[in-house]
Amino acid sequence: MKYRRILFSILAVILLASAAGCSSSQNEEHKASAKARLITEDEKVYVGFILDTLQDERWYRDKELFETQVKELGAEVKTLAANGSTEVQISQAELLIAEGVDVLAVVPYDAEAAAEIVELAHKADVKVVSYDRLIKNADVDYYVSFDNEKVGELQASEIVKKKSKGKFAYIGGAETDNNAVLFRKGAMKVLQPLIDKGDIELVYDQYTEKWDPAVAERNMKKALKKEGNKITAVVAANDGTAGGVIKALSASGLAGTVPVSGQDAELEGVRRVYKEIQSMTVYKPIVTLAKNAAEVAVKAGRNENIATETSVHNGKADVPSILLEPIAVTKDNIQDTVVKDGYLDKKDITGE
Ligand code: GAL
Repeated sequence: MKYRRILFSILAVILLASAAGCSSSQNEEHKASAKARLITEDEKVYVGFILDTLQDERWYRDKELFETQVKELGAEVKTLAANGSTEVQISQAELLIAEGVDVLAVVPYDAEAAAEIVELAHKADVKVVSYDRLIKNADVDYYVSFDNEKVGELQASEIVKKKSKGKFAYIGGAETDNNAVLFRKGAMKVLQPLIDKGDIELVYDQYTEKWDPAVAERNMKKALKKEGNKITAVVAANDGTAGGVIKALSASGLAGTVPVSGQDAELEGVRRVYKEIQSMTVYKPIVTLAKNAAEVAVKAGRNENIATETSVHNGKADVPSILLEPIAVTKDNIQDTVVKDGYLDKKDITGE
């Protein structure tokens, strides 16, 4: 760790200095501060955390909780967000590798394109942990997430409890996100038998570019127009897309009468569940995800052995994995789930 980091940090200073067109005196300053940092913290594992986006509420929690956990384990961490761009995410990986990270935790924007990050990292002897979303077709070292097919099953099951017959719409997540594919797969496990029986007709089925609520709203408006507003229920992949769907439904005077699913237990999502405008959301205890992922990242950075209960095949390798349990939240169990865990405050949800 030590000698590689000295080498890489000097390289980083040169890279950054030339990039910033610094004067020679500033150059010396950079080198001095990098060396100073090294002398005091050379045994600390350095973790780079690369997010896809901070668009959705949950990623702020992931950032805070993961950073806290990594520091509690005596390591350092730097977080960057790529705002939904593969190019930016790859250049952020290059920068962190040049800065001497020992391990990268990555929330890939594009599951396939992020394979390049794994190649770059391994060339520099840096480990890669897939955080929440799996990087496909690459030798990923570890994967820490939730049982994402189960998320889809919970969403469709709660909707079918409300409406088990009629015209359904599926409003998915971003197709670049492997989770969105798994959520849909889980939902179809519940819906397909009812479709085969002829009870349900899936009249609209679309992924949502970049998980953008405005795109979900637009797509839902298209579906309503195509079906003359005769849509019985909507399986939406997260609270962001559910919010867009409900905007489209309320424009047609249907909000609250058409069941809609969600995910992430965002405050606005849980408020809608409380007001029964949205039927359910899926609570994924981020604190447990961040804690497990931080432990794996820091151990990987120390080249320690990490035993996992399961592995997931990502098209190239069986990736050692930790998959956590998602929890369905309806109006009836808000108190016993997100409130009890301190994830959300009752007053914020009910306004009382
Ligand atoms: C998924 C994640 C969800 C949701 C979505 C949009 O990968 O598992 O919790 O937030 O991204 O960012």
